Amino acid sequence: MSGSTITPWVVGNWKMNPIKADALQLVENFKHLLQTNPIDENKCHLGIAPISIALPMVQANFSSANRAIYTVAQDVSKVAGTGAYTGELSAELLVDSQIHYVLIGHSERREFFADDAAALKKKIGNALNAGMTVIYCVGESLEQREACQAETVVLQQICDIASVVESEQWEKIVIAYEPIWAIGTGKTASPEDAQAMHAKIREGLTQITAKGANIAILYGGSVKPENAVELAACPDINGALVGGASLNAESFYQIAQAFANTK
Ligand code: 13P
Repeated sequence: MSGSTITPWVVGNWKMNPIKADALQLVENFKHLLQTNPIDENKCHLGIAPISIALPMVQANFSSANRAIYTVAQDVSKVAGTGAYTGELSAELLVDSQIHYVLIGHSERREFFADDAAALKKKIGNALNAGMTVIYCVGESLEQREACQAETVVLQQICDIASVVESEQWEKIVIAYEPIWAIGTGKTASPEDAQAMHAKIREGLTQITAKGANIAILYGGSVKPENAVELAACPDINGALVGGASLNAESFYQIAQAFANTK
């Protein structure tokens, strides 16, 4: 037990995967595992972020699970409300479809889809104003880590959004630290390195908000059943954002169990 009072979160980011039939099977398999061996809601929040077209389908299928499993959007528009913005999906429209959770600032969106600090501020502001809970992703590249800039980069990414988060809205923020060099590479940050960065993030958050000590900070980057227990044992690692391993129900379940049992 780590002694933390923060309920851990284990969230699967399916990215641009899988096809519909496989998504449905994955949901069924995961529900079955939870049915057979339940994970208490008070011990771990669970969420899945599917492709946007699958959000209502996944949500509907999870409604028969024996516990809450959040359906999480992978992104949101920097434009609020409704209007002539072809291809966009606003926070209000997500909430209108009962989607109350969203990933913002994933490194793949920062790198390939021009999500810079200005865009991310708009997205976070819109999501929070629509009442959504935001999982805000931060993380440094390998070059930045090797140049000893990792902490500065990550703390700057946190500071980038501070001006748009009202004091009471920090309750709706979860941070996900995902070092870019660990994503999809099979290379996980060591528990010591991950804990060290999480402690820095925690310190930064407590300087920004009185709620800093209670904000969940998730680790992401090649989380698997084999490393989940060690990561979960770190005091400032309050859960996991899981990519590849979330596409296998058994692996994802084992990661969730590791956090539920260790915290
Ligand atoms: P992997 O778990 O596949 O490394 O992906 C991590 C990630 O990017 C989750 O958002």
